Amino acid sequence: MPHLGVNIDHVATIRQARNTNEPDPVWAAALSELGGADCITLHLREDRRHIQDRDLEVMRQTVKVKLNLELAAEADVVSIACRVKPDQVTLVPERREEVTTEGGLDVVTHEASIVRAIDQFREAGISVSLFLDPDPKQIEMAAKLKVDAVELHTGQYALTRGREQQKELARLSIAGEQIHKAGMQLLAGHGLTYTNVQPIAQIPEMAELNIGHSIVSRAVFVGFRDAVAEMKRLITL
Ligand code: PXP
Repeated sequence: MPHLGVNIDHVATIRQARNTNEPDPVWAAALSELGGADCITLHLREDRRHIQDRDLEVMRQTVKVKLNLELAAEADVVSIACRVKPDQVTLVPERREEVTTEGGLDVVTHEASIVRAIDQFREAGISVSLFLDPDPKQIEMAAKLKVDAVELHTGQYALTRGREQQKELARLSIAGEQIHKAGMQLLAGHGLTYTNVQPIAQIPEMAELNIGHSIVSRAVFVGFRDAVAEMKRLITL
């Protein structure tokens, strides 16, 4: 049964809308743990639009489950990660103008900068995951780089319906098998909700799902702890 990683970035988005000190994503992380989260995920973006350096520092000291930092393979954030030492880093592509992470990392094209970052993480003793589309060529490259895990981008699955969604699910299952066979951990995330998560959670060998927007949206109405507990119940049914 997969573990649940809760992405708390959107709590910081609300705080940054007023450039104040509430709501605090550190509180969201603590309540997520109480609701059964196995991992707390946060994304330190180049433009610091939501998570701030302080959030990462405080969460490193207070989060008791696995701490997963998403970041681009850019020198400034890579060096922050190596100093703060989250348990895992997830390399993601990043464009300033995008609303969220819109596609997987292109490891084939950006091999040199990604290898440089991976070497630094290895030296710092941090495990490495790559956020990839379910594309056999990208997964092959991840296996060649001997990363610990691949997080499959489920965005296309989340956007489609009916037959198209079944096709996306099949692509994700096949990619999951490739990842597992290559000895890497299989993770997934993006666009997962209370209504579309179960088929993804049931992919064999799925180790962890990272879910943010849907949990934060529900937490506005029912509270963080209950929102996380309900998602955890759904993925472990
Ligand atoms: N995984 C990765 C790598 C992401 O970049 C994001 C979005 O920040 C998520 C998971 C969570 O996506 P969502 O907020 O749509 O659940």
